[in-house]
This record gives sequence, C-alpha cells and structure tokens, in this order.
Amino acid sequence: VAPVIAIDGPSGSGKGTLSQMLASRLGYHLLDSGALYRLVALAALNKKQELDDESGLARIAAALDVRFETDGQSTRIFLDGNHVSDAIRTEDVGMAASKVAAYPAVRDALLARQRGFAQIPGLVADGRDMGTTVFPDAEHKIFLTASAEARADRRCKQLSAKGIFVNRDEVIRDIQARDERDINRSVSPLKPAIDAVVIDSTRMTIDEVFAAMLDIVRR
Ligand code: CDP
Repeated sequence: VAPVIAIDGPSGSGKGTLSQMLASRLGYHLLDSGALYRLVALAALNKKQELDDESGLARIAAALDVRFETDGQSTRIFLDGNHVSDAIRTEDVGMAASKVAAYPAVRDALLARQRGFAQIPGLVADGRDMGTTVFPDAEHKIFLTASAEARADRRCKQLSAKGIFVNRDEVIRDIQARDERDINRSVSPLKPAIDAVVIDSTRMTIDEVFAAMLDIVRR
C-alpha cells in the first residue's frame, strides 16, 4: 500500500500551500479534500439544490463528475468538464462548502473517492479529517494550526495579491464562524488525531513550517 501523509488543520493555517510543497518535494500525489467539499457546494449551487437537503446533497456528492489535472506545481480542477479552479475558491462557495460538509451522508459519499487517491508512490492528503477518519492508518499525521488573527492576515494577503481587498475584521469573523462549524459538527469534527504532531505556525514563516514538516516525515 502507498504511504499517506495526513495534513489537517483549520482554514488559513497554510495547509494548502504546504501540502502542495511537500507533495512536490516527495514526488507524491496530492489530495485537496477541501476542494471536493467546495465542488459539492458549487455543483449544488449550480443545480439550485437547497443546502439543507442532506440526501439531495449526498446524491450530488456521489455523482460528482470531477477531474484533477496536475503538472507537479499546480492543479486544474474540472467539474462536468468545465474549468472551475477559480470558481470554487470564492468566499460564498467556501461558506456553502462548510455547510454541506456538516452532513454525514455527504461525508460518506466522498469517503471512497478520497481513499482512491492513495496511490504509489504516496499521497499527501490535505483536509480536516485526513488523520482521524479518511486515513486513520496514515504513516505521518501533522496538524497545522495558527491563531485566527494570523490566519485572517494570511487570507487578506492572499486576496490582496489577487487585487481583492477585504475587511480584516470581517475575515476574522468568517474564519471563526467556519472554525466553529468545523469543530462542533457531529461527524469528523476538526481536531488533531491522537497520534498527530501539532505545529502552531502563528509565529513561523512558511519555510520554517516546511522544514519542521520535512523533519517529521523523515523520522
Ligand atoms: O480554504 P479553506 O481552508 O477555508 O477551506 P477548504 O480546505 O477548501 O475546505 C472548505 C470546507 O470544506 C471547510 O470549511 C470544511 O468545512 C470542509 N472540509 C471538511 O469538512 N473536511 C475536509 N477534509 C476538508 C474540508
């Protein structure tokens, strides 16, 4: 079986960037599980599916027609043949994703698809429940976290690099709302696996976190 490195943590902890960096360094596949929840949300919004109909959402999740095209550095995501890499990254879709992700039937419907990513030579799995639910036997488990303020600042910086300017307090509130939903949901709540190494990156640079992660996976 292919080795799996589970990287979990809250919104804005740097998981996405660091998982991508780690996968490229090791030559491993990458699973962006958050993208799957975002794709379910986008598909539901496109189909005018009510976001409170659990079984309707689960059907959408099970039937999701998605393709990930990777060139080592970046990934292009297609839904029903349409390029949606940018469309799934909006705040609206993120908020809807965190709602659909709270439904057990939706999470179940995505489980086998996520496990299918574990292929030779190995997988870096980025999410909220990689180490607890999807890959409980993962070789390495890392839980990346940071204060809500630090995470909000990173998000603001990311957005302003794209020419999008947002209110910092609003971003902090959004992050806290998302945290709360992720932590308090009944299934697969956001929390470190008991055997995960926790890295608090509030006062660390990306390069420092990356070095710490390499250290862990080379142990
Ligand atoms: O970019 P951000 O970290 O805010 O979100 P994401 O990783 O793209 O995931 C979007 C939403 O999907 C999160 O707010 C979670 O509620 C949910 N999610 C989840 O429940 N389980 C995962 N393994 C990954 C994401």
